[in-house]
Amino acid sequence: MCYNQGMKQRVLSGVKPSGKLHIGNYLGAVQNFLKLQEEYDSYFAIVDLHSLTEKFDPKAKSQEILGLAIDFLALGLDPAKSTIFIQSHVPEHLELSWIFSCLTPVAELERMTQYKDFVARGHSPNAGLFAYPILQAADILIYKPKAVPIGEDQLQHLELTNDIARWFNNRFGQTFEKVKPLLTNTPRVMSLLDPAKKMSKSLGERHVIYLNDEPDVIEKKLARAVTDAGKDGAMSEGTANLFKLLEIFGDKESFEFYKEQHSSGIIRYVELKANLAKLIAHYFAEYRQRRKELEKKPEYVREVLEIGQQKAQMTASPTLQEVKQKIGLIL
Ligand code: TRP
Repeated sequence: MCYNQGMKQRVLSGVKPSGKLHIGNYLGAVQNFLKLQEEYDSYFAIVDLHSLTEKFDPKAKSQEILGLAIDFLALGLDPAKSTIFIQSHVPEHLELSWIFSCLTPVAELERMTQYKDFVARGHSPNAGLFAYPILQAADILIYKPKAVPIGEDQLQHLELTNDIARWFNNRFGQTFEKVKPLLTNTPRVMSLLDPAKKMSKSLGERHVIYLNDEPDVIEKKLARAVTDAGKDGAMSEGTANLFKLLEIFGDKESFEFYKEQHSSGIIRYVELKANLAKLIAHYFAEYRQRRKELEKKPEYVREVLEIGQQKAQMTASPTLQEVKQKIGLIL
């Protein structure tokens, strides 16, 4: 155990392994994790159990889990600085989750918008999806972190987490501190073809830029992205999205240059798109290289995850013991 880890404040976050990461996922989570690991005692969980609440192919699942671990490492999460682990490897989460479910009114779960939206779309939810926020509360509280880096869409789940902590404390004595959200100001990256919608792979391959798309693929996808006529200064959502990407992945000069061209109505999107494609491809060049290397060393990745599991359990297990003690399960 590293000495300074004890001095640092702890953060924890989780990412579902459900296929390849795209640039929206990167900007929403991992990019932020890279900064956090420099300052905090950081725990990053690959929440495989949460991913089972969605439709999945059992033949693809293990590759999705390992793939996300590879992505974490290739993007620069450093196992010497962060605890990188797989949720199901630390079964303490599940035990705590059961205990929390016995404290959580069904009515509270019925209020969760993620669940309600799913039902509103006409799907019939499984019990795992309903209980999803309880497992998330256990993921978090078992590490007693100071803060949780999350997107806006997860705020309600964090509120429930803090409610559960409070219910537990009130009934069994002070155990959990309030956990703060660390909201990243994440740029909302939109679909390339349907820029009114958030970039999401559920829209289709051509709507998203995956981190491991090769440069020619990025170029082709951007070439098809919808824009506007660039006249009368007004900017469509599609064009605004490309400018947003230019601002993130490019340099100030090219951003200003194309902005200027847009407002004077002389912008050539073919040129902008080709440039943007180069910039994005360049931004992720090192990642693609490291990913290819790591793909050849799955045993190294498994080793990192095993060490992560051990480190995670060293923190999780005492919390579970404390909880069991307080509720009277220790004889
Ligand atoms: N529900 C989160 C999401 O969809 C994933 C998640 C699971 C999580 N457990 C967590 C995030 C614990 C933060 C902390 O993004």
